[in-house]
Amino acid sequence: MLAWDGPALRTWSAVMPAHPVGHDPGIPANCRQSGPPVLNWRAACFMVRMMNPASCTNHFQVRKDRLGDTRWLSTQNLPLVQGQVRLCIESFALTANNITYAAFGETMNYWQFFPTGEAGWGCIPVWGFATVTQSLCEGIAVGEKFYGYYPMASQQVLQPQRVTPAGFVDGAAHRLGLPAVYNQYLRCSQDPFYAATTEDVQSLLRPLFITSFLIDDFLADNHFFGAQEGTLLLSSASSKTAYGTAFQLAQRAGIKRVGLTSPGNVAFCKSLGLYSRVLTYDQLDQLPADSACVYIDFAGNAELRQRIHKRFSQLKYDCSIGGTHVDQLAAKGSTRELPGPRPTLFFAPAQIKKRSAEWGAQAFNQQLVHAWQAFIRKAGQPPAPWLIVQRHSGQASLKAAYEKILSGGGDPRIGHVLQP
Ligand SMILES: NC(=O)c1ccc[n+]([C@@H]2O[C@H](COP(=O)([O-])OP(=O)(O)OC[C@H]3O[C@@H](n4cnc5c(N)ncnc54)[C@H](OP(=O)(O)O)[C@@H]3O)[C@@H](O)[C@H]2O)c1
Repeated sequence: MLAWDGPALRTWSAVMPAHPVGHDPGIPANCRQSGPPVLNWRAACFMVRMMNPASCTNHFQVRKDRLGDTRWLSTQNLPLVQGQVRLCIESFALTANNITYAAFGETMNYWQFFPTGEAGWGCIPVWGFATVTQSLCEGIAVGEKFYGYYPMASQQVLQPQRVTPAGFVDGAAHRLGLPAVYNQYLRCSQDPFYAATTEDVQSLLRPLFITSFLIDDFLADNHFFGAQEGTLLLSSASSKTAYGTAFQLAQRAGIKRVGLTSPGNVAFCKSLGLYSRVLTYDQLDQLPADSACVYIDFAGNAELRQRIHKRFSQLKYDCSIGGTHVDQLAAKGSTRELPGPRPTLFFAPAQIKKRSAEWGAQAFNQQLVHAWQAFIRKAGQPPAPWLIVQRHSGQASLKAAYEKILSGGGDPRIGHVLQP
């Protein structure tokens, strides 16, 4: 295995034992380290934590109204009540998606998943892996690993319900009214997505790629709203969700994909080979104004949206996915004055429900897993993988990683995985 722990970079393509340690061509020379293989070292550290579960939980919290203000807080663990499990959170990914959860924390209830109990402070949800350290729930054993939605914290207590071989649903009262998709925990031993060697990649790309898969499917299902012969415009083209979408769209004949990005990320977007064309945000005038188009908006940038709606007289659909440009998000009600179609929030669960009914749940899952495997194979391909994993452990290192992602402008090729 080629991989290293600590604040080091590693390509996950390197989990293939194809190159000697320290000589993976996918890892920049200045980032290579010698040292023990990461999986062994990580596993050893984790085993120590598992065997001596801490009596306190460390929480990373942010001020809801000033996302740059953060703190680490330690709380004493309470004894479990019947039916509960305690999990030790092993690792999770942090991307702009998580920052968007925070930016829309009030309006879309993301703060409610892991309430801090203190007004003004919130806990950002993340996707990752955790292992059961204590169980008072039948059907869930100590040592089992689950993929799912966790807080940025070292441990979490959940209240499993509807326990099946595939996993369970957290039945905690405060989560009952929240979207079901976030309340599911998947047993890694049964999960067709899971491979022990690609945990970091799963944390980073899985929730994003599922969205990408569904966006592509939704647009095709709607015949691209009449823009099959025209152009699909993708903002924040360097984001993982956008390039996952471009990856899916690129498999459809005749669909033109124009990636819009900031000047610093043009080279990265071009290097992916997924976009028919890559333009900076101020180069819209290079596209014909009368071309039929669909806007797939990952940036949520109000000013950019205005320009797109004003320029393209044949804008057929505005599909609102996210808000990576957290400092330039549209104010509430600001879309009323826009020419052209009203931006429509993409609701992934609706497309899952539709396809599961039409294709059957099993066939839907098979298609998704198949697409996922093709995507991660391509994304990890040397010599220039689309994603290089950077791990962070320790409180100071996690805080620094959060601040970097919040401020944007980092290398889009780096995927941050945090170990609380
Ligand atoms: N609706 C859904 O179900 C769903 C699901 C998954 C993701 N999403 C959304 O898709 C978007 C992309 O998420 P991701 O996790 O894939 O992102 P990511 O890979 O972390 O994206 C990084 C890119 O986002 C832009 N960016 C990030 N922070 C920024 C900042 N502070 N200021 C300006 N630009 C910034 C930059 O792209 P550019 O320079 O190219 O603009 C940057 O290269 C998010 O808004 C997320 O919420 C939605």
